[in-house]
Amino acid sequence: KDSDDRIIDPAKLVGDDLKEIKANISKLLGSGHPFLNTVARHYFSGEGKHVRPLLVLLIAQATSIADKKSLASNIDYKSIDTPISHGLKNITTNDVFDRKLHYTPSVTDQGCIILPTQRRLAEISEMIHTASLLHDDVIDASMTRRNLPSANASFGNKMAVLGGDFLLARASLALARLRNAECIELMATCIANLVEGEFMQLRNTKEGESGKVKKLSTFDHYMEKTYMKTGSLIAQSCKASAVLGGSTKEVANIAYDFGKNLGLAFQLVDDMLDFTVTAAELGKPAGADLKLGLATAPVLFAWEEYPELEPLIKRKFSVKGDEEKARDLVYQSDGLKKTLDLAQIHCKLATDALYKLPASDARSALVQITEKLLTRRS
Ligand code: FPP
Ligand code: MG
Ligand code: MG
Repeated sequence: KDSDDRIIDPAKLVGDDLKEIKANISKLLGSGHPFLNTVARHYFSGEGKHVRPLLVLLIAQATSIADKKSLASNIDYKSIDTPISHGLKNITTNDVFDRKLHYTPSVTDQGCIILPTQRRLAEISEMIHTASLLHDDVIDASMTRRNLPSANASFGNKMAVLGGDFLLARASLALARLRNAECIELMATCIANLVEGEFMQLRNTKEGESGKVKKLSTFDHYMEKTYMKTGSLIAQSCKASAVLGGSTKEVANIAYDFGKNLGLAFQLVDDMLDFTVTAAELGKPAGADLKLGLATAPVLFAWEEYPELEPLIKRKFSVKGDEEKARDLVYQSDGLKKTLDLAQIHCKLATDALYKLPASDARSALVQITEKLLTRRS
């Protein structure tokens, strides 16, 4: 660790910007139908962790004092907040943003800057994530999220799917208005990756470069899927934040490497917590993965010690008693410890990337978030 690393409260650095996120997203979700508004806004009523926006804002600060391309001075900030029109009667929403907040970059006492475009990217990353959760809870038939009834439990599958689609559409509109083609490319890639990851989870194959279906080793398949469903959105959001700030390619790639490894570690810990933590602590069902037929890292590591797990994994724990037997073998094995060890390796790669950036409070905060991830309980 660098000697100049201080204990930094991320809330002090980006708390004001973060507070605005929920209200701003709500404004981006105005539609011609009041019930659609309710469905699309459902997951913003509870207490989300806002991991992705927090990372986007801190990366904005941490990369702002690193190497820059000559930043084009003609950023069209006004386009960020153009009212959204919908319906035959030219109804518009989204015209009540706080102008001062939205057009003025914020600057810390170390000279680290967050641009209005980066603030909006933080909101977009949370909208894409939430869209995927609306669809995920339908696919997983999950009845709770964040200690509240899921959207599908509250409004039914059809409306939950449409609510997710709507969120994705409004995120795309907000993204187009950032007027940055590279940023659109990055975020469009991660939306596709989310779907690919979910598909890899349903079918144990991956589409190869040649378009031919390729069979990966089980663990490679799991890690690839993990990148697709969790790593990609965090990685591309961090990179896009650096890109919007005018960072060089090198700095943007550092942001990507940080986000990718943090995302992989985050999901590995998530898959471990599914075995170790109660539903009350998680705010969503615990022990869900085996029930869904999924063999995540703890099971795959346990399989190395207990070959008798193989038939259970192959039949997706579908025979009565499979789930209990697999769970017991995971607890008897080193599977949970090995999962945490692998998460630790990716946390180290994430901090290695951060230390390539110049020292700043934002960088220290990102290091702390990365280290705390290994001890999170929910
Ligand atoms: C949560 O995983 C789910 C994801 C990280 C991604 C889900 C992606 C889709 C459903 C594809 C559609 C994507 C879009 C953008 C509409 P989990 O089920 O392991 O976690 P959980 O325990 O929080 O439910
Ligand atoms: Mg789920
Ligand atoms: Mg799922």
